[in-house]
Amino acid sequence: MKILMVCLGNICRSPLAEGILHDKARAAGLDWEIDSAGTNGYHNGEAPHHLSQKVARGNGLDISHQRSRKFTAADFQKFDRIYAMDANVVEDLRSIAGRQFDSSKVDFLLNEVHPGEDREVPDPWYGPEPGYHEVYRLIEEAADKIIAKYAQPHEQK
Ligand code: 4NP
Repeated sequence: MKILMVCLGNICRSPLAEGILHDKARAAGLDWEIDSAGTNGYHNGEAPHHLSQKVARGNGLDISHQRSRKFTAADFQKFDRIYAMDANVVEDLRSIAGRQFDSSKVDFLLNEVHPGEDREVPDPWYGPEPGYHEVYRLIEEAADKIIAKYAQPHEQK
């Protein structure tokens, strides 16, 4: 599986999503490729926000090596699943990818926990630290669902 996590800046939410899912996949013995990107490119080349790094570190994860990059249409060729943090991100994916947009690969991340409800991972960028803890909790719940879903042995027919 090749999975891409996408938010707006690729410095707060999707770096946590990449780090959390990467760690859980590794722990489950899954050889998955996990990456993240942002739709606005404002923070290209930057490390994750210091509060995302701090909250990750408090949970035993080091995400300091990650660098922000902008989502590109070619990501639709490269990845099997593309998870968006909110509705703005889905709209941005659509406009950036143009004809390469493939709705079968895209979903709201939290639809893994609440199918079809299109719930959003709130943007913690303008707020204080508790928002980053809440983001971590929401993403971790979704990551557990993704692992459980794809790690199950396929049923014999
Ligand atoms: P993120 O948060 O999408 O979770 O990385 C944001 C970070 C920066 C900006 C927007 C959202 N920004 O516009 O600079």
